[in-house]
Amino acid sequence: MPAMAIIGGQWGDEGKGKVVDYVAQKASMVIRFSGGNNAGHTVVNDKGEFRLHLIPSGIFYPGVNCLIGNGVVIDPGSLLEEVDHLNERGVDTSHLVISNRAHIIMPYHTLLDGIEEDARGDDALGTTRRGVGPAYVDKTARLGIRAGELLDKKDFLDRLRFVLNNKNQLLTKIYGAPPLVLEDIYDQYCAYGQRLAPFLRDVDQMVEEALQQGDLVILEGAQGTLLDIDFGTYPFVTSSSPVAGGACIGMGLSPRRIDIIVGVFKAYTTRVGSGPMPTELMDKTGSLIRERAQEYGATTGRARRCGWFDGVAARYSNRINGFTGLALTRLDVLDILPRISICTGYTLDGKPVDGFPASASIMSRCRPVLEELPGWEAPTSSIRRFEDLPPQAQAYVKRLEDVAGCPISLISVGPEREQTMVLSPLI
Ligand code: IMP
Repeated sequence: MPAMAIIGGQWGDEGKGKVVDYVAQKASMVIRFSGGNNAGHTVVNDKGEFRLHLIPSGIFYPGVNCLIGNGVVIDPGSLLEEVDHLNERGVDTSHLVISNRAHIIMPYHTLLDGIEEDARGDDALGTTRRGVGPAYVDKTARLGIRAGELLDKKDFLDRLRFVLNNKNQLLTKIYGAPPLVLEDIYDQYCAYGQRLAPFLRDVDQMVEEALQQGDLVILEGAQGTLLDIDFGTYPFVTSSSPVAGGACIGMGLSPRRIDIIVGVFKAYTTRVGSGPMPTELMDKTGSLIRERAQEYGATTGRARRCGWFDGVAARYSNRINGFTGLALTRLDVLDILPRISICTGYTLDGKPVDGFPASASIMSRCRPVLEELPGWEAPTSSIRRFEDLPPQAQAYVKRLEDVAGCPISLISVGPEREQTMVLSPLI
């Protein structure tokens, strides 16, 4: 069997956790390849509701190895809290494996994320303040500390001394903040290293072996394509590559290995944090969607901005990722609306715009061209076959396929595993 990537098609929070959970039963491995604990994946199963931030959503299946790849940045305190919480609720985590190449979020990263956001004032990006951006900055600046380094106490002390000296200059001289104490961080992170040691490995080889045995390997995306550092609405983006291409780099996997790429989209659009969102609804309908769907961030609790499905962004996302099929989530949220719109194009100063603009400032001036469809005003959450959906809901789904340019393989009408319709098998 091949490798399958499950990718957020919008601005994150599309319901990837549920889709991964649904297909993970057939897999031998689920891998997180980008982002950090800025992500929040909600999974509902027979053990209850879980919010995962770093641990792959396959953790609930004992036979499925759950890997955290080199492309992820790990806050060890947050990861170990997640492990403890899962264990307390009866979930075994012994099948968790962490790349020794993954970078570690250090206390100065979290501190700087907050300080830098505050310093941006009205231009703040609305980051999750989890230290994710600053950790990727250090990775690229070659000032990062990798998970495997925590195990060699002597080398770690030398490296931390050098890096912390640099960070303390920044904290004290630029931001007027107090310096951090070397010994405190060293002791805390050596202790983390001891607890992480049983999980740490060279993971790329494990993946290759699984693929050679013919196992299904799932690459679990975090965030979404429109938050990608290169292809998202820069600078209002995250600091990693949540797109399908990022899965190869964030794991050490050849592009030739990924045969199935599933794009996960909500039946409408949401976004947390700042930045352009042409289909945003600032009216009663936006609030109605937010309250009905409880659109509040799984990580920060912030209210999500809600709007119509953006077909321009979906087409773009499909092109960047090369989706082989789409998973449409939260269709049931729209059950109560008498009319539903889809954005099929943008205009700027009254003229049509070609494609998805690279510039966030141009994008913020784009207006959506909306196509209005009749709603179905009937409950769908207990429907299990596409043919049993109200005709207006079927027409809405078909129109989304047209504008996105990719067939919809799976529809979700609620958080439970069984609240899922399969239109065509993903595997
Ligand atoms: P950062 O990733 O914390 O640096 O935040 C940068 C931007 O990405 C902000 O707008 C965040 O709200 C957004 N973001 C980061 N992770 C997620 C996610 O998992 N879902 C939705 N938005 C996210």
